[in-house]
Amino acid sequence: MLVWRLGKTGGLEVLRLGEEAGKRPEPGEVRVRMRAAALNYRDLMVVEGRYGRGTVPPDLVPLSDGAGEVVETGAGVTRFKPGERVAGTFFQGWIGGEISPVDHARALGGAIDGVLAEERLFREDGLVAIPDHLSFEEAATLPCAALTAWNALFTARRLRPGETVLVLGTGGVSTFALQFAHAAGARVIATSSSDAKLERMRALGATDLINYRSHPEWEKEVWRLSSGRGVDHVVEVGGAGTLPRSVASARHGGAVHLIGVLTGGEIDPTAILRRSVTVRGVFVGSREMFEAMNRMIAFSGLRPVIDRVFSFAEAKDAYRHLKAAGHVGKVVIRIA
Ligand SMILES: NC(=O)c1ccc[n+]([C@@H]2O[C@H](COP(=O)([O-])OP(=O)(O)OC[C@H]3O[C@@H](n4cnc5c(N)ncnc54)[C@H](OP(=O)(O)O)[C@@H]3O)[C@@H](O)[C@H]2O)c1
Repeated sequence: MLVWRLGKTGGLEVLRLGEEAGKRPEPGEVRVRMRAAALNYRDLMVVEGRYGRGTVPPDLVPLSDGAGEVVETGAGVTRFKPGERVAGTFFQGWIGGEISPVDHARALGGAIDGVLAEERLFREDGLVAIPDHLSFEEAATLPCAALTAWNALFTARRLRPGETVLVLGTGGVSTFALQFAHAAGARVIATSSSDAKLERMRALGATDLINYRSHPEWEKEVWRLSSGRGVDHVVEVGGAGTLPRSVASARHGGAVHLIGVLTGGEIDPTAILRRSVTVRGVFVGSREMFEAMNRMIAFSGLRPVIDRVFSFAEAKDAYRHLKAAGHVGKVVIRIA
């Protein structure tokens, strides 16, 4: 089988394709024929050596997000049968409850081998069934970006119909957050560097659009659009550089779901306490959250937004496309 591996990390040139022998599943394991994988901003950080503070091992198989078909099960496996369509969970051991340090150390495509390979063995508890109406390419987008947006909006601080959600930019997490919030009956304000991308967000259900290039003080636009109330939820993917404006966009008692690290900067915490804003760290999600999200996706018929699909051989081009940041939604690699 063909497998992409990173050498030491430090740029795309370390990514190489090689032939390896497939392995039979041990007891409790499931052999999955990978059919598609999807990229996240994190995968750029991994390949460039900007992720994990030395926890990324050499010769890593990259990418956390993939979907495929079960081809063989080891002794004792009860959750899956050959032929079933599955996706791996981002944190292989995080089933439910709160995340633990042990779960942290089992993240696909970071601490342990990921999914950019024709086949992969998973522990049976590290897989979920994917919704029937989704293609493998669509289902491959769910494990990180979709689940992070879901965890932000529907777990500890639940979105309610009629509330307002602010999403920053038009990448994978933000696009899923928009789709989920819209489906849940919330009003969505979207920001982007591009008017053309904002029109895509309008087509997905955003009712209010802000170009953060032409409105560098975009929190003032949020304030104006929300009639001086502020928003109930901010899906904060920008990091330290956008956090002060995200806090300023939230209503008194609102929530800022802290997800991303796209920009650097400093924050004065005073505004957080003065307006009683809850700033909540979100790190992908558990398998139970993934299964709950998939029930919603299956019931609603929601389809992930895919910007472009690359072939397995074009994996490096997929990374370059993500890095160029011209995309809306997800960048996918078809494996077979
Ligand atoms: N905590 C977690 O569990 C978790 C999970 C997934 C992702 N993340 C993080 O969340 C962030 C987004 O990830 P992703 O995979 O969705 O990224 P992505 O698909 O690469 O999207 C990046 C987009 O963010 C927007 N952006 C860049 N700088 C911005 C700024 N200053 N203000 C507003 N928007 C900006 C741009 O959209 P426009 O071109 O429209 O402006 C850009 O295309 C990354 O930092 C990633 O590491 C964290």
